[in-house]
Amino acid sequence: MWDRINWLTVINTVILLFAGALVVAIVQSMLKPQVQESKNELPFYTTADPALERAGSDLYRSLQCRNCHTIWSVKSVYQAVPAPSLDGIGSLRNEEWLYRYFSAENPQAILPSRMKEKYRMPSYASLSESERRTLAEYFASLRVRDWYLDETISAEQKKLTGK
Ligand code: HEC
Repeated sequence: MWDRINWLTVINTVILLFAGALVVAIVQSMLKPQVQESKNELPFYTTADPALERAGSDLYRSLQCRNCHTIWSVKSVYQAVPAPSLDGIGSLRNEEWLYRYFSAENPQAILPSRMKEKYRMPSYASLSESERRTLAEYFASLRVRDWYLDETISAEQKKLTGK
């Protein structure tokens, strides 16, 4: 009689231990991919909807901004100018600032340049208002995650000041 009860207790304990281990394993496997995802996460993202994304990148391409700038860390093979990367620029400058900058006859009055004349940010004041609005809206939508903000700011400062 006592033997039987002891055996049942042992078997119950073993079953409970297995069940416990299984639950721990399941919970771990559920948590693991999320931890890895946040470590491998890209620091740059956009809040643009597909229409703005298309309109913005079309202008970026047709106006050849990429001769001087990088975006999504992709470089044009013709690029020789150390202009700031535009990845995450919307976390550094807001839409109003960008609109004023793109509309300025002399962008260097807003942001001083250390470049020779021909490498400086050109004026886009002659574009239509809606094109300048689209550019401002699109670049304001390019953001950087908080954990990469400091690096992005110091890379930008380095490009702007050469230090
Ligand atoms: C001839 C090279 C050149 C071209 C083309 C060019 N840029 Fe620039 N851009 C620069 C440089 C250099 C700077 C840094 C300021 C300066 O030196 O005038 C700059 C600055 C900027 C900034 C401010 C960056 C910051 O750190 O705040 C933005 C935004 C920008 N450009 C967007 C654009 C867009 C959008 C286009 C295309 C419509 C474009 N640029 C075309 C050279 C260029």
